[in-house]
Amino acid sequence: PVLVVDFGAQYAQLIARRVREAKVYSEIVPHTMPVAEMLARDPAAIILSGGPASVYEPGAPQVDDGLFTAGVPVFGICYGFQAMARSLGGTVARTGSREYGGTPLRPRLLDPGVLLRDLPADLPVWMSHGDCVTEAPAGFTVTAESAGAPVAAFEDVAGRRAGVQFHPEVGHTAHGQEMLTRFLYEIAGIEPTWTAENIIDEQVARIREQVGEKEVICGLSGGVDSAVAAALVHKAVGDQLTCVFVDHGLLRAGEAEQVEKDYVAATGIKLKVVDAADRFLGALAGVTDPEQKRKIIGREFIRVFESAAREIASHGDVEFLVQGTLYPDVVESGGGTGTANIKSHHNVGGLPEDLKFALVEPLRTLFKDEVRALGLQLGLPEAMVWRHPFPGPGLAIRIIGAVDRERLDVLRRADFIARQELSAAGLDRGVWQFPVVLLADVRSVGVQGDGRSYGHPVVLRPVSSEDAMTADWSRLPYDVIARISTRITNEVAEVNRVVLDVTSKPPGTIEWE
Ligand code: XMP
Repeated sequence: PVLVVDFGAQYAQLIARRVREAKVYSEIVPHTMPVAEMLARDPAAIILSGGPASVYEPGAPQVDDGLFTAGVPVFGICYGFQAMARSLGGTVARTGSREYGGTPLRPRLLDPGVLLRDLPADLPVWMSHGDCVTEAPAGFTVTAESAGAPVAAFEDVAGRRAGVQFHPEVGHTAHGQEMLTRFLYEIAGIEPTWTAENIIDEQVARIREQVGEKEVICGLSGGVDSAVAAALVHKAVGDQLTCVFVDHGLLRAGEAEQVEKDYVAATGIKLKVVDAADRFLGALAGVTDPEQKRKIIGREFIRVFESAAREIASHGDVEFLVQGTLYPDVVESGGGTGTANIKSHHNVGGLPEDLKFALVEPLRTLFKDEVRALGLQLGLPEAMVWRHPFPGPGLAIRIIGAVDRERLDVLRRADFIARQELSAAGLDRGVWQFPVVLLADVRSVGVQGDGRSYGHPVVLRPVSSEDAMTADWSRLPYDVIARISTRITNEVAEVNRVVLDVTSKPPGTIEWE
């Protein structure tokens, strides 16, 4: 793999993703990992990420010099660039000139090196630094500067090392992906082999080895992750797999039917649908606290799932449980240095330690966009692959207040209209997710027909995001919002007001609870 060394900023995941986009497998490792351990993984290259610290601060994360003498190609970015310069005998100084945000980069016209070859002058790049490299280490060629950074990029092609002060991984840096790709292919000499076909072959072999002749179950949530995980396992072990879909009564309109119809038709997987609405709604009656709702749903889910598993087992016990855990979940729980618990995300099909299953997690190394590519390659319907994420606790956390059948029915009708209009406008792909939230305990006065109405507001919460960690509210066209509003207030009698949520994440979260 290409190892991305995380110096504690948010950029490491992004770098790892961009490397994968260049069809090269990458993994994130903490900067505290000893160099010997990194080298034991036989890395094709090591990328040092940006970080919040100054190389001069006491306790600033250090790079072991051994990393640069091991013969492994190295690329330093931002903090990693400075740490690299310093380690190799260059000079890093606090010049007092800081650069934040978009900055024009001036590649050396006569000697732009490999990374910046043929790229335009005054290239906009994303900078975020206080210190800067003032002198490159011996053996390195300086290939660019900016107003605040006399050495903004350098490389030592023979030594297979390079570095940049700016962030090539962010979208604001023009040609950033090209620079990363050039490092990987031209300087490090890596072949692009990380493709959907290869990932599938590799995972199928791995699953066969792990599972053998045993029985496997998978909780389907209707979302793309569990759907792709199950399809992979099915490809590997066929009818040893049974999927369980728990209808907890908190789904959106048509959801259970879609899973049964589309998914089974595309995959031929054995599916058991459990109607558990009474049980969940009973347990949720009168509960308004968001965390309590989540806990109840998590608990009930496990119970239902366990009894389904017992019914499925044809001989002895089912030993394996498939989970659609993704790489960001792994990184976040592994690198969790004091990360605050914002919401107890209940992973559908997830975390039941006392369930005594061994886990099969074929997506553990993958990002969402890779999972989608795999889904398409496996022949899943596009409608399934491109579905918006939907939370495990379902509509329960989109009803602000207690959950009951009437309220669910109101929200389902409003939500259906919003989804229908978004699709009709051809905007599904441009939006990450579009929650519709019912403020069930709030009422407001309106006028409908000739009379006064006293109904509930619903909130439209369309967001754009790359990974749900951060998000921005989507600037949907006004006419689309207007159509949704008109239709909801006309067609859903209980709702007399539609409002738009214009909060980014942070400070808001995507869901309201
Ligand atoms: P928030 O609201 O934390 O959501 O910004 C981030 C993403 O996670 C989804 N979400 C959940 N998914 N179980 C899930 O499976 C949960 O309990 C849960 N809570 C939030 C949310 O829809 C968004 O995509």
